[in-house]
Amino acid sequence: MATTLTARCVFLGAPGAGKGTQAKKVAEAAALAHISTGDMLRGQVSAGTELGRQAKGYMDAGKLVPDDLIISMVKARISEPDAKSAWILDGFPRTLPQAEALDRNLSANSALSHVIYFAVPESVLFGRLTGRLTCSKCGAIWHLQNNPPKAAGVCDLCGGGLVQRSDDLPEKITKRLEEYRTLTAPLLAYYREKNLLREIDANRAPTVVFQELLKLMQ
Ligand code: AP5
Repeated sequence: MATTLTARCVFLGAPGAGKGTQAKKVAEAAALAHISTGDMLRGQVSAGTELGRQAKGYMDAGKLVPDDLIISMVKARISEPDAKSAWILDGFPRTLPQAEALDRNLSANSALSHVIYFAVPESVLFGRLTGRLTCSKCGAIWHLQNNPPKAAGVCDLCGGGLVQRSDDLPEKITKRLEEYRTLTAPLLAYYREKNLLREIDANRAPTVVFQELLKLMQ
């Protein structure tokens, strides 16, 4: 699809709302940098870096990683050449201090253009997370029921092996949803007040959500 967007966009929503699924598709369709703090942290953990070592305990417990670690990681990422003008931030900001740090870091001519809230009832999120499978090679996201691969355990796109994320276990999901309600949900009011918040009903088929997102991000 030939779409050009110059958006600087935050995808906001609870764990399992579909941010990563849609961010990958929109970034590819519209040539935007996809900046996922969850993916970056998992990369640091598997590379065995100092940041990964510090983040791992929080992630394993379903808790948010401390703001100072995340903010410096994102600051460095959005100053890289591919992220100079147009990007999707997926999973950041997640706290008020992160949102304020982002505002401080963006200049007037690179301010946020959209904050899109993925609205999904909490009753749906649990099933989305417990059934999620991720490709260990290309990162594609699948679901045992909603979006199953053709061959069990194998990515349709690259043939890589599919794995369950270690934080998609029921007790960790409960903690992540609690962290979301307490620390992240207040960002809805923060961005509504700035007149940046747009809400999408993300409890519909992924293709429908995708088409509407492209329109919202014009
Ligand atoms: P992160 O990786 O960001 O996880 P998350 O926010 O919990 O979000 P998820 O990746 O779980 O969900 P998603 O909305 O992307 O859903 P997806 O598209 O995969 O963070 C992980 C951890 O890292 C955190 O707990 C924290 O420790 C740390 N961290 C990260 N960022 C941080 C920050 N800024 N500050 C502090 N700590 C941070 O979809 C889920 C499933 O649903 C998939 O199986 C998919 O196939 C399916 N699905 C998607 N859309 C639909 C649909 N429309 N209909 C049916 N099924 C669907």
